[in-house]
Formats: sequence, C-alpha cells, structure tokens
Amino acid sequence: MSDRALKAATRVLAGNWRGTYTVPAAGLYPHQWSWDSAFIAIGLRHISPTRAQQELDAIFSAQWADGRLPQIVFNPRLDVQYSPGASFWQSQRIPGSPAVPTAGLIQPPNHALATLLVHQSDPETSERRRFLSRSYEALLGWHRYLEERRMGDSGLVHIVHPWESGMDNSPFWDAPLAAIDASFGSDIPRPDLKHADASHRPSNAEYGKYLYLAARYRDHDCDDRDESYPFVLEDPAVHALLIRSEWAMAEIAELAGADADGHRRRARALTDALESLWDDELGCYVANDVVAAEHQRFRTVSGLIPLLVPDLPHTDELLRSLSSEHFGLGRIALVPSHDLTAPTFDSARYWRGPSWFNTAWLIAEALSERGFADEARALASQMADLGLDHDFPEYVDPHSGEPRGTQRFSWTAALSLDLYERLHAKGEVL
Ligand code: SER
Repeated sequence: MSDRALKAATRVLAGNWRGTYTVPAAGLYPHQWSWDSAFIAIGLRHISPTRAQQELDAIFSAQWADGRLPQIVFNPRLDVQYSPGASFWQSQRIPGSPAVPTAGLIQPPNHALATLLVHQSDPETSERRRFLSRSYEALLGWHRYLEERRMGDSGLVHIVHPWESGMDNSPFWDAPLAAIDASFGSDIPRPDLKHADASHRPSNAEYGKYLYLAARYRDHDCDDRDESYPFVLEDPAVHALLIRSEWAMAEIAELAGADADGHRRRARALTDALESLWDDELGCYVANDVVAAEHQRFRTVSGLIPLLVPDLPHTDELLRSLSSEHFGLGRIALVPSHDLTAPTFDSARYWRGPSWFNTAWLIAEALSERGFADEARALASQMADLGLDHDFPEYVDPHSGEPRGTQRFSWTAALSLDLYERLHAKGEVL
C-alpha cells in the first residue's frame, strides 16, 4: 500500500463515519453492523484510537439484557433505504431490547479480538476512557449469551439465520433453506438492488426464506425458545471466531485484573468441540445442520478460518487446501469464498465464490502467526492493490480481481490499512 492508498483508505473511513460509528457502505448498508464495526475498529485504531473505541462503544451500547450484540443497530431516519429495517423488527416491543432500535439476530463474535487490538494500539487513551474494563463487562455478557442460549450438547455455537454467519448465501445454507417449506411471500423488498447488481447479490428465493426466518424469530420475541424453529446450524468460522475471541478475553482479563484461567479453559473446550466439524475427505471444516443432523459438505472459506485457532490439530491439511486448486492461494485474487472447482461456484455472487477482504485479513493473520510471512505479505499487498485500483470494493472476482458488490466499503479500507500500518510503519513480523 502506497501513501496514496493509505490516504484513499482514510478518506473512505471518514466518508462513512457517522459521528459515533461507521456505516459499512453509504448506500447498500446505511446502518451500523456488528461484525463490520469490529473489523472497522481494527483499522480505525491507526487513524484515531478514540474513534476506534467509540465504534465498539456504539455496538456495546446496543447490547440486549440477555447479553446479545445485535446484527444491526438502526438509524430509524433511513428506514425505507434498507430491508429489513427498524419498522420490521420493532425491537422496542421485545422484552430486554435496548433503547436504540436493532435487529434481533446476531453476527459472528469477533468483538473481543477487536477490543484487545484497539486497546493495545493506545493503552493510555484506553485507560483514561476506561475502555477495557467497560468493554470486558459487555464482552462477558455477550459470550455468556452465546454459551447459555446458543450452544447445544455439541458445545458448538448455534446460528439461527444465514445472516448470523455473515456469509448469507454460502452453499452451506442451500439444503437447510430448501427444507423449509415456507417463504415470506412474493412481495420481497429489495432496496439493496439499487446499490449492487442483482447477479452479485443473493436471489429473491433466498430473500423469501431470509425474511420468513427473521419474522418467525422476531414473532417469538427473539427468545431462542422456539422448539420447532427450522434453521439451526453450526458454522466453522463463527465458532473459530468465538475461540479466538475467548483467547483475547484471557488477555483482556489479565490486563483488567480479572480471572484469565476460565477463559483459557473455555477456549480449549471450544477447540475440542470444533473437531466434530472436521471433514477429512474435503480437507477443511464444514457446517452441521442441527435440525437434519447432517453435515453440509462444501469447501468454503468459513471452513478455513479455524486456521486462526491456536493448537489446532488440522493445520497442515488446512494449509494444503488453501494452496490447492480449490482455493488457489497465490494464484488467485485473495481467497475465494467457495471452492473454485465446485459446480456451485459463482465468481460474482456474494458468498458463493467472490473473494472478500475480511476473510483475507483473517487468513493473513493466521498465516503470519504460523510463520508463513511471505504468503501473509503477499495477501496484504494484494488487498492494498485491489483496494486502491477499484475504490475499495466489497468483494472481487477471484479470477479477474474485478470489483463486485458495492464500493467504498469500510472494512476493505480498514483492514487493508491495518495490514499496511503494521507492515510498513510499525515493521511487524507479518
Ligand atoms: N449481509 C446482509 C445484507 O446484505 C445483512 O447482514 O443486508
């Protein structure tokens, strides 16, 4: 990343800043998204540690009484511009919801990881604002919610909607969605199609199921006690991010003078549980459909994200898959979201093939920690080049590197900037 790219990334983040948080993209995603904000804070810490802390504060201030951090915190003035918005969720009518309007679903738990990185970038400001101790309380509640309300006997986190994976139309969800014999109806609002090409987005049929599930979850007061709820899945990336965040919690607890051992114990138990998602033949982790008791046997980037987990038994196999013809590391733009050789691969459509910058950042991080400095650096410079060449795209075609989805996308700018700062300005190992 050149200084020009650094300035351009900073401009994107300034343009998407809304006073206390950053929107993922001004048109397509005009509210605050949970895992976006955590990724964005990781980049913002290099521009302004205070702004990075505010970004996370804004998500924590929307925490529900049961500890959940909501997928979206809405700006109610923009209700017609996004679906489903505040008027769909009507969260204020649901017991335990916060004062601000939010969605009832959740997103992957990358927040403790982001909190630790933000704190470490400027411990003095963090100390003065009591950022770490305040965040630790919120994070304890968040992880407790996942453990008490979202974990089955398997010891794996349950997601109850494709949106909760952050990878909405991954092939993992095809069969579980097809098995649901209901839809929201034919009148599906799609304001997203004003901002991105329909061939880059999930289909109307998928949206029918998405809205059906969201409405059903809402109508059950989002209480996780709907016994016949039809979509319950275990996803490798969601679970791996929880493990990684639990390790971050151990470090936060030490810094905050709290008990770190409990977090380490939980991280190890969660790591043991992850093994039930390992697929030896595919050489990666897969999702499990809890309702049908069936593994969803696809190679997706989600199944590689466990590379981030310390002491993982299958690191070598995952590294081999990453470099194989299925993901093409080093020969392809970033890391594709789905197996390049699969009949279900689509180079343009959201999470069914395109390469995303957040997953590239997670894999660069994992590669660097495992001593693959050259591969990590190569991913980092690809991120910077693709970001600058295409005005920080939401995702790219893995074969051509051409931009897909929307542009001036916040986490693309933030995470490219993070790697640039650590590589060049701070001279980190990467
Ligand atoms: N990714 C979803 C969307 O496209 C929601 O989180 O709006």
